Amino acid sequence: MSTTWKPVALAQDLPPLVVMPVTVDGQDLALWRSATGRLAAWADRCPHRGMRLSHGFVRGEALSCIYHGWSYGSSGTCLRIPAHPDLEPPETIRVPIHAVAEAGGLIWVALSDPQTPPPDLGTLMPLRSLTVEASAKTLAALSGLTGTEVLRGTLADVEVTVVLHPVTPKRSVLHVLTADAPPEARITVSRRIEALRRQAESEGLAA
Ligand code: FES
Repeated sequence: MSTTWKPVALAQDLPPLVVMPVTVDGQDLALWRSATGRLAAWADRCPHRGMRLSHGFVRGEALSCIYHGWSYGSSGTCLRIPAHPDLEPPETIRVPIHAVAEAGGLIWVALSDPQTPPPDLGTLMPLRSLTVEASAKTLAALSGLTGTEVLRGTLADVEVTVVLHPVTPKRSVLHVLTADAPPEARITVSRRIEALRRQAESEGLAA
């Protein structure tokens, strides 16, 4: 898998007008989608007084900080300061932005300049993401699937792909996708993944 692009969320979990926090390589980011569907991944820190922008709200094509309401446009520049409505904010007030892309049902973020598009995982049905307090290595070893960062195989007779995002050495996010399968089978896969989480976390406690 690409070392540049990190899988941060299932695309279905970020509808328009929603902002969520994600962490990539130790950096906290605000991941959000505008009213027209444009994705953005920004430093999760308001340039004004440092409030987390992931606590903010999306209006149209802008993200506004929940603290004093400064709002930022798609390029990260400040558009409006409510306490000074007649002031045109200087260009220097700007949120650092990162590359973000949607592919294969996932949202991918790159902190450094990506030279290639995000990995193509083929046509799959997104199932769910979940956070596990265990290393990606432990999860890969316990899963019964093949691979290291993108795990593939069969669970409950359903072809599954599990994309691992190591958030810290002891915390991972799993993004689970399946081949086309009936809802009951996908529920069973979901339960198997929850069982994997319990097992991985209990092994971590015992270690
Ligand atoms: S801290 Fe964000 S607007 Fe003040």
